[in-house]
Amino acid sequence: MFKVTFKFEGAEDVITYAQEGENLLEIARKSNVAIDAPCSGNASCGKCRVKLIGGEIESPKTRHITDEEYAEGWRLACVSKVTGDVEVQVPDIASAYRSRMKVADLSSKEEIAIFEKAKSDVESAGISLTNSLDVINVKMNVPTLDDTMPDNERLVRAIKKQTGIKKVRMPYSVLRKISYVFRESNFEVQCVIRSTENDIFIYDVYKKDEKVVIGGLAIDIGTTTVSALLI
Ligand code: FES
Repeated sequence: MFKVTFKFEGAEDVITYAQEGENLLEIARKSNVAIDAPCSGNASCGKCRVKLIGGEIESPKTRHITDEEYAEGWRLACVSKVTGDVEVQVPDIASAYRSRMKVADLSSKEEIAIFEKAKSDVESAGISLTNSLDVINVKMNVPTLDDTMPDNERLVRAIKKQTGIKKVRMPYSVLRKISYVFRESNFEVQCVIRSTENDIFIYDVYKKDEKVVIGGLAIDIGTTTVSALLI
């Protein structure tokens, strides 16, 4: 039997004993030591890192660990086998998550060049890159005693007349703000719309001079990593 010591920052060591060849991640689990292991030991996520600080362990170098990190003692627990007494440092999971939150600004010249190249590759493959969102200016008649049409119908009527599209829809979030926006902007507004051949959906309404920004958020929910891109 070999002595296996798990060390932590700011917490007591956990000491246990294991047979030769036992897997380090399994030993940690049996000893209630929390090692981040989202792929459950398949050697694919690269998250179950521990740092060898004493003794020995059999652990192949994987694509998740650089030569420099390997020389510093970093190993994947899920591919490590006990071959003698060993001491490993276990990163704190909570702080590990904090430090792995990466934020990058992709608006540099180089990043934009990469984006433009990807865009032209996609377009030259015959795929058109577009979306159906737009901001349109809409001018309505100001209500009078002879024209008492409700605000929502007034907007729908003006958009139909302007675009020629017969079906216009708006959600409750728009409905509840139009009476204020219309009157603050003298019935000249900007509408954020999504249009198809047959209908228009109004996402939002702004005063005529307000700066309107249409943003996009793409989220890739992977098994071990979540990436988000705000455009
Ligand atoms: S648990 Fe995923 S690589 Fe080890």
